[in-house]
Amino acid sequence: MVVLWVAGLALVPIASAEDGYDLWLRYRPVEQPFADRYRSALTQLVIRSESPTLQAARSELQRGLHGLLGITVAAVEGVSQDGALVVGTRRSLPFLAELKLSLPPPGSQGYAIRSATIGGHSALIVTAEDDVGVLYGVFHLLRLLQTRQSLDRLELQQTPAVQRRVLNHWDNLDRSVERGYAGQSIWDWHKLPDAIDPRYVDYARANASLGINGTVLTNVNSNAVSLRPDYLEKAAAVAGALRPYGISVFLTVRFAAPIEIGGLSTADPADPAVKQWWQKKAAEIYRLIPDFGGFLVKANSEGQPGPQDYGRSHADGANMLAAAVAPFGGVVMWRAFVYSNERPDDRAKQAYSEFKPLDGRFSDNVLLQVKNGPIDFQPREPFHPLFGAMPRTPLMLEVQITKEYLGFATHLAYLGTLYEEVLRADTYARGPGSTVAKLITGIAGVANIGSDRNWSGSHFDQANWYAFGRLAWNPAASSADIARDWVRMTFTNDATFVARVVDMMMKSRQAVVDYMTPLGLHHLMAEGHHYGPQPWFDGGKRADWTPVYFHRADAQGIGFDRSASGSNAVAQYAGPVAAQFGDLRRVPEDYLLWFHHVPWSYRMHSGRPLWDELVYRYTHGVDVVSEMRKTWDDVGPLVDAERRDQVAAFLRIQEKEAKWWRDACVAYFQSISQRPIPSGLPPPEHPLDYYKALSFPYAPGN
Ligand code: GCU
Repeated sequence: MVVLWVAGLALVPIASAEDGYDLWLRYRPVEQPFADRYRSALTQLVIRSESPTLQAARSELQRGLHGLLGITVAAVEGVSQDGALVVGTRRSLPFLAELKLSLPPPGSQGYAIRSATIGGHSALIVTAEDDVGVLYGVFHLLRLLQTRQSLDRLELQQTPAVQRRVLNHWDNLDRSVERGYAGQSIWDWHKLPDAIDPRYVDYARANASLGINGTVLTNVNSNAVSLRPDYLEKAAAVAGALRPYGISVFLTVRFAAPIEIGGLSTADPADPAVKQWWQKKAAEIYRLIPDFGGFLVKANSEGQPGPQDYGRSHADGANMLAAAVAPFGGVVMWRAFVYSNERPDDRAKQAYSEFKPLDGRFSDNVLLQVKNGPIDFQPREPFHPLFGAMPRTPLMLEVQITKEYLGFATHLAYLGTLYEEVLRADTYARGPGSTVAKLITGIAGVANIGSDRNWSGSHFDQANWYAFGRLAWNPAASSADIARDWVRMTFTNDATFVARVVDMMMKSRQAVVDYMTPLGLHHLMAEGHHYGPQPWFDGGKRADWTPVYFHRADAQGIGFDRSASGSNAVAQYAGPVAAQFGDLRRVPEDYLLWFHHVPWSYRMHSGRPLWDELVYRYTHGVDVVSEMRKTWDDVGPLVDAERRDQVAAFLRIQEKEAKWWRDACVAYFQSISQRPIPSGLPPPEHPLDYYKALSFPYAPGN
């Protein structure tokens, strides 16, 4: 909100431009009758905010209530009238102890929001054992107002189901962002540590509003320079800005750092000098950042150095680093995203083959971070077979929020449904009901955040950051409910708008699957930058970076045989899952071509032959995007012009590119299947050579 001086007479508020900067924390004025109801329920703010975290809670409340209700509630230390909003812990407000409220346990980061009577006055209490729980509770309360919920008789209690809820920034020290489509890195290393961009605090607010409690500042393809003393001071300055919001900072580690910045001749984890170098480095970091979270490590993967360079195992490497941070309470998040250059085995199998034998060999403070699927953040993958296979190793689930393989920033693809699908996937590891959600102790999301005014490159991509955080807190939450909250907070509470836009979001990811990689196809994206289709590509550095490796289309059929007659990747899953995925008649069609090489004439559930079904699915994906465009044409006018127009422009791009994907893939696969386009469906607009000739040397994010 900005205030204008009109005709020298009055201060008249006008809505400021809606450029998306405020995310879901817009706090725009509440309409009647809700405004009056909320105002009478919130007449005074009882808070004693000594800690930086409680100060953050107070300033968020004051900001929120001012924006939403136009009121300035002064902070007082005792309840003296009806409508008291009481915010604090038993330490900050000792009278809360007398109420003997049952609360989530200390250290759980949970909170409670309760209606109560205090000293004869009606009150609303936001409380927790820890300050950060209070802050989370405050954001929850504000969300109730933002989504027009009743404040009567509240009995809310929330505890996060997953302990570590972490963003992974693939941000480089030169501010480029690997697979980033939202501008530069928000971390301005050159100006740090002296200049603290106010954006860091807004970043912290947004994350705290979701309960995200950790952030890895640097790219997994890491640079040893980030561990130099001058860069550690910069990281410490960022940590200082995030700390009040309960967010601890992590750094990625380049395994060869002892050589590259330490002057040693080896990085062998068994070498005493190397161990000592890391111990000293950890001590140095913790002197600067006492609540430093620890290290995230990509080792012996895609050319990164690692313990195997010295004939040591991943466990040897991880444990050496874990020992360095253990005295300070730090952890090592060791990534399972590895596949070998030399080994000709199915790439989908390699992480399991590498790590499964190491179960039980990692130190207690090592977490193994496993991508949601066994390949690489495809529009759809079956869950990673390591989930359930490592009972003696704490696992983190890694998902991608940035849409490297789902159309970058311009395609609208709500990923809440993707995250929900993997969290609910049943591994059967401990019998039925052993969902991925139940097996993990942490969730990491590869951030889609950059220096763009709207943070995420597109307005709808903010929803993916939002859904990630909400599902990390509560993996059992429904992606549709989360979308509903997000739409209300980000755009408007108009019922028609909410219903239609949520419906569009819920269909959007399946549409991307259909127009890019239907029926279990995967990795058909262009080489390197991954922008657009290139299913014909078979050159480059290595076979398992080419689409032809993954789709295996030939005159007879299409798909990667991972059943017992093929690579037998299915055997890495627990019995019932392996039996289902491995059986051509029982495998869900969504994974058909992931696990089987299937004849073009194979009869699908629809009754159509596989070839026809494939073209039908591609076409359907495009049709859904056209419907999404129409939906936005109808309801977009209910929001501000700035965001309406950007969303509309991006949907036009998406429709054009969905058609490009469909036509290029259909033309290519038709050149192999030699079958006619099913009647009633349009032929590709151009001959295959047209699509093959397209090139995009400056596609972003590479
Ligand atoms: C993908 C992505 C890389 C990234 C890698 C990883 O392969 O394309 O840019 O480094 O995943 O997760 O390590």
